[in-house]
Amino acid sequence: MNTEEPFGFTTEQVHGGTIPDAGHGARITPIHMSSGFVFDDFDTARDRFAGIDEGYTYTRLGNPTNAAVERRIALLEGGTEAILVASGQAAATVAFLGLLAAGDHVVSASSIYEGTRGLLLQNLGRLGIEVDFVDDARDLDAWAAAVRPNTKLFFGESIPNPKNDVLDISGVADVAHRAGIPLVVDNTLATPYLVRPIEHGADIVIHSASKFLTGHGSALGGVVVDSGRFDWTTGGGRFAHLTGPDRGLGGASYVARFGPQAFAVFARDVISSRIGPTPSPVNAFLIQQGIETLSLRVERHSANALAIASWLEQQPEVTSVDHAGLASSPFHDLAERYLPRGAGSVFAFTLAGGEPAARCFIDAVQLFSRMTHLGDVRSLILHPASTTHAQRTPEQRAAAGIHDGLIRLSVGIEDAPDLLRDLERALAAVRNAFGDTGREARRGPATDHTAGGPAAVPPVTASSGTASLRHALPEQHVISEEI
Ligand SMILES: Cc1ncc(COP(=O)(O)O)c(C=O)c1O
Repeated sequence: MNTEEPFGFTTEQVHGGTIPDAGHGARITPIHMSSGFVFDDFDTARDRFAGIDEGYTYTRLGNPTNAAVERRIALLEGGTEAILVASGQAAATVAFLGLLAAGDHVVSASSIYEGTRGLLLQNLGRLGIEVDFVDDARDLDAWAAAVRPNTKLFFGESIPNPKNDVLDISGVADVAHRAGIPLVVDNTLATPYLVRPIEHGADIVIHSASKFLTGHGSALGGVVVDSGRFDWTTGGGRFAHLTGPDRGLGGASYVARFGPQAFAVFARDVISSRIGPTPSPVNAFLIQQGIETLSLRVERHSANALAIASWLEQQPEVTSVDHAGLASSPFHDLAERYLPRGAGSVFAFTLAGGEPAARCFIDAVQLFSRMTHLGDVRSLILHPASTTHAQRTPEQRAAAGIHDGLIRLSVGIEDAPDLLRDLERALAAVRNAFGDTGREARRGPATDHTAGGPAAVPPVTASSGTASLRHALPEQHVISEEI
């Protein structure tokens, strides 16, 4: 679509990237559920393999449904090109392997998704790639001090979970660029509606599209977006796989042949297509449908989350609320700078009563779903210390602020009063079970009182299953819960 004025975000999320269906006039990009694509004749086959004819060959290498989603996400993120893959983990893998080889080094914020941490430490570690973590990502000197001659990328998340400890994207990007290194940012929890990391200096953006982009908890997906802006020739020959002669290109380099698209072409042709994390076009279709309402959902998600965070902050049983939208957050200044539309809807709060109180609270909710997932239209709840972060030692969890009483919420788009009632019910259950423990603990020095909690948690009368939900909730909630 041609226009002189650039479209707004919401227009772009609905129309961006669509190529009209010349065959049948379908308004929505159809699901092209085909493994391969017919060559009209001998020469067409030869030319497609040579890259002279731009038609499709085989879905692992490209598919029209997947391509429409790639174009739309690239537009929304302000990048030049995107690669759609089967999951967020696949996106991280493709982005990392597009930059790293044995003997290379990564500097990463410490506060990142545990799966990415495992990927860096264990999977890439086995390939001889080393990683250093920066514990306080606001400390830009620490990022600079961690750089080695073999450092090939900086990595961080725009909004990490569960602590909502917002990344100083341009600060970290500046340090990276001074060292001739690209910054890769996982923008899953912010989405391009809340922040476009490329505008703040990030070079490559990745997503778990399984979360807010799809938005309905129905499909997994991932995406790598290239800004097309990083100069691969800087950094003292760090990126020889992009700047040096390549046999597959007849001795030309990726940079010489593809210019600003060098990384994207390498990551697609050499990494993603070979490893093969191809998304099903059905999943691409679901991601495309989700993106069309992204701004509307994220606006509501964020407003609900801030209302809940503000309410939780007032509760005597709650010792802290990790939401950067709150003035009390040490990351509030970064949220104001990077996230004027909201600090997202994934955040944590800590109950004074430690794990027993967290268990009681989580078992008492009826509308929130107990799930390890994020960015769903439904509200979700999880206890990181016993699930996502259970593999960490208690000392590591304490250092990361993942206390035993910490609970993670991914706030959905339901009516805020209904969500607040559910959380109120859960707090009442904690109060019933533990009396005033929480209030006293709040006045005391430390946060967690696991050791001082009751030996056994009394049974919670509130429902933890669908059967009781039927009695407790209006019809539409029962239906959506079952979906
Ligand atoms: C911030 C972030 N990045 C990446 C991932 C991995 O995404 P996926 O589950 O789609 O592989 C997750 C998953 O929970 C995540 O929270």
